[in-house]
Amino acid sequence: MSRKELLDAIAAEILACRKCELWKTRKNAVPGEGSPNSQIMFIGEAPGYWEDIKGKPFVGAAGKFLDTLLSEIGFSRETVFIGNILKCRPPRNREPLPDEIQKCTPYLDSQIRIIQPKIIVTLGNYSTNYIFSKVMLPFNGITQTHGKFYDASILDMRITIFPTFHPAASLYSARYKEQLIRDFHKLKRELKEKGLI
Ligand code: URA
Repeated sequence: MSRKELLDAIAAEILACRKCELWKTRKNAVPGEGSPNSQIMFIGEAPGYWEDIKGKPFVGAAGKFLDTLLSEIGFSRETVFIGNILKCRPPRNREPLPDEIQKCTPYLDSQIRIIQPKIIVTLGNYSTNYIFSKVMLPFNGITQTHGKFYDASILDMRITIFPTFHPAASLYSARYKEQLIRDFHKLKRELKEKGLI
């Protein structure tokens, strides 16, 4: 099977998933989307209002800013893979529960295994905490960890983790917005050095 076929099979499982209670309130599950051959994966937290309606990741206000950040570094959303920790929207956008994270993240792990990215960009606290815990790095909050490159082994692959703020943070804080822009420029320099753009 090709990477695309494998990702499609995972997406089909996600669309039918009833492992936690979120299937009861979702309109659509959001498996994630992008290039199956991407060297870079972006991981957010969970679908919000618009993602739930459209079944696609980052299509609301935070997603528009993510598109801008991606184009700053020479990517479009079709050339990368964008996923989330949770594949279904928590009611009223509440924070993900530990049980939901535990039940849902095997899907993300499968997506990482199939895509085999060189760089994983974690957007915000939840995804950074999850990926850091997988590679046994201590996580002291996104403010402490963002904007640096962490080489690690994950699921038997060597990858670089690059944590940054969640794009939604830019909607209420100019400071976070500036830091996100700065982090993405740093990311661009690293991608150039690694010959990935
Ligand atoms: N916020 C996220 O973390 N993910 C989305 O897909 C949309 C908003």
